[in-house]
Amino acid sequence: MLPGGPFIARRGKDLFIEDCAARALAARFGTPLYVYSRSAMLAALAPWQRALAGRPHRLCYAMKANSNLAVLQTFAAAGCGFDIVSGGELERVLAVGVDPARVVFSGLGKTRAEMRRALVAGVHCFNVESEAELELLSEVATALGRRAPVSLRVNPDVDAKTHPYISTGLKDNKFGVAHDRALAAYRHAARLPGLEVVGIDCHIGSQITEVAPYLDALDRLLDLVEALEAEGLPIGHIDLGGGLGIRYTDETPPGADVLIAALLARIDARGHGERALVFEPGRSLVGNAGVLLSEVLYLKPGEHKNFCVVDAAMNDLMRPALYQATMGIVACTLRDLPSLVYDVVGPVCESGDWLGRDRALALAAGDHVAVLSAGAYGMSMASNYNTRPRAAEVMVQGDQAWLIRERETAAELFRGERLLPG
Ligand code: LLP
Repeated sequence: MLPGGPFIARRGKDLFIEDCAARALAARFGTPLYVYSRSAMLAALAPWQRALAGRPHRLCYAMKANSNLAVLQTFAAAGCGFDIVSGGELERVLAVGVDPARVVFSGLGKTRAEMRRALVAGVHCFNVESEAELELLSEVATALGRRAPVSLRVNPDVDAKTHPYISTGLKDNKFGVAHDRALAAYRHAARLPGLEVVGIDCHIGSQITEVAPYLDALDRLLDLVEALEAEGLPIGHIDLGGGLGIRYTDETPPGADVLIAALLARIDARGHGERALVFEPGRSLVGNAGVLLSEVLYLKPGEHKNFCVVDAAMNDLMRPALYQATMGIVACTLRDLPSLVYDVVGPVCESGDWLGRDRALALAAGDHVAVLSAGAYGMSMASNYNTRPRAAEVMVQGDQAWLIRERETAAELFRGERLLPG
């Protein structure tokens, strides 16, 4: 089964996203094109919801993974809250009509203006990452005559065993308050006039494929919760962040049900069964629900390497260039041609602009390929490098396909620029 199966699967020679042929979508909407399966998103959410049923909890979709309004709308309608990391993400949540009381505001560099807007909107919780941020948030809240609900992001110093760029819970990462300073930081927070302590949180990394680092982080958090409550400082909820990995090629991450069952067992064993839980999954809800469709522009045989030049590039999908990420690439329609081993590359003027290396594919110019598992951190990280308009996005359910973001035009890209006078 392909990553994304059964919602993304081959029928005969053609790749389908639910009941829509990739080749037909590419012809109808053009390429590069992000296509998402709505059913795959909801199917990815279901095990989280099932595993947490009967417990006080909130699932806050980490919208940085894919912040298209229609994606947010899908998760909001399914009962999710949201994890946001910027004023811009807050505006998206508000544009979709989500109750801000379902939102947690993460991020280590919140500005005064972002704090103010989020306080006025009424977010559920600020996940605060430093003592200095506590001070500023208290000041901003006091000036508004409010108290900001806060949780401290504790850096538990556990190794999530993932790529260094997406590992966030180690001592030397820039994130969170060090575990051994957390008690003092909480005492400080409790004294500040503009704050109300409501929880504790952590996020140890992304694309995590093991349960053990989560259990270690949970233990470290529970140690703090017990110490704080012994001092008379109640901690409402525990937020264990996001981070659950997906299968890109041969990874075998635990299912959300397995992860949650292990965490709940530990929580119960330590006598915290009634405590409210928050999770912030991003990638695991959308990653394998999306593909990036691209047209083959040129096949370029070389002495040592063959290149397949496609019309999607590192600006559309940055993960391979940035993290050397391996993502599946398949032909949208299988052909009776001998396959050749290609580096699949984009038109951007950098050797780092590649989508896949050493891929055996049977292709001709004009064919389409699909980069798999591209629903998370694909479009949300896209840029306009080389003045390349960003791709269009389509949501599919059954045999229906909706355009959920128009392709940008070049004129839009320099709309805000000005020529010098004279
Ligand atoms: N909560 C916080 C505070 C986070 O920093 C993140 C992701 C999440 C939740 C969601 O984590 P997820 O469930 O998606 O793993 N661009 C990288 C991933 C960066 C993740 C950053 N933080 C990539 O493409 O692999």
